[in-house]
Amino acid sequence: MQDFTGKVAVITGAASGIGRALTEKCLAEGMQVVMADIEEKALQQAVKELQAAGQNAILPVKTNVAILDEIENLKQQAVDNFGAVHLLFNNAGVGGGGNAWDSTEKDWEWVLGVNLWSVIHGLRVFVPQMIAQDTQCHIVNTASVAGLLGASTNAGYAVTKHGVVALTEILYRDLEAQNLKIGASVLCPGLIDTRIMDSGRNRPASLINDEVPAALTQEQEAGRAAFAAALKEGMKPEQLAEIVFAGIRANQLYIQTHDVFNPMILTRANNITTGTNPSPINLI
Ligand code: NAI
Repeated sequence: MQDFTGKVAVITGAASGIGRALTEKCLAEGMQVVMADIEEKALQQAVKELQAAGQNAILPVKTNVAILDEIENLKQQAVDNFGAVHLLFNNAGVGGGGNAWDSTEKDWEWVLGVNLWSVIHGLRVFVPQMIAQDTQCHIVNTASVAGLLGASTNAGYAVTKHGVVALTEILYRDLEAQNLKIGASVLCPGLIDTRIMDSGRNRPASLINDEVPAALTQEQEAGRAAFAAALKEGMKPEQLAEIVFAGIRANQLYIQTHDVFNPMILTRANNITTGTNPSPINLI
């Protein structure tokens, strides 16, 4: 997709961080933008700020991306108000740590719903719409560098992000094989300065654990603080948005932000092909 002026973008997780920066970039490209987010107050605040800056081609739609009906409503609102959808960012996501056996069913359900089911719903709902339009379109699914690496103590998050990478690789090939006018990219950011560490703010009450979580050990506290500090020093979302648009224009399947992770990706690939066990790393 090369031509963005006057076209329509739908962005999930648009009230904060990466989604908010993508919204601003789409507006700067002359697009109309449907902003979807579960956090209504933050969404309304973002709209207010954008309108104060003179941007009016915005439609906020409160959406829980884990729920199919809400994604269907999002598509309908976009089509009813703007007539079509050309660019879809399946971006909403939540962080969450823990190993596979200590994470509760509710922990798993929350992270799988927001990070992976959301993308599955998004593709099932929006791809048929784009096919029917028969216009040039593009889909960007936000995974993470955690979807390219084997890391430790982030079982739920890593599973969803590896899932989003696999889903987008298959999507890309299937769209190409059928000669459809839809491009696909998987965004695999490194550390970006957003509110991801504060993801719990949007956890639905029904998915909050009944039992009070065990207090973090000193080591875990220190790890969390170090990660928060690294994120603060991370790339600004506005810079990432520029990288993403360059990737869309180039119809690039893999969009990365930090090549510092490439040696680790290569080590993992090498481990797989040579049957070598990984050494413990603690990244993302
Ligand atoms: P953020 O916390 O600043 O923004 C995430 C947005 O998603 C928030 O506005 C939040 O309200 C929304 N959201 C959460 N649950 C939702 C739900 N059920 N339905 C709809 N919206 C929901 O975090 P950030 O970093 O901007 O996250 C965006 C994406 O980037 C996520 O998929 C995340 O996994 C990914 N990512 C972020 C990295 C980072 O370093 N910040 C690195 C790699 C990937």
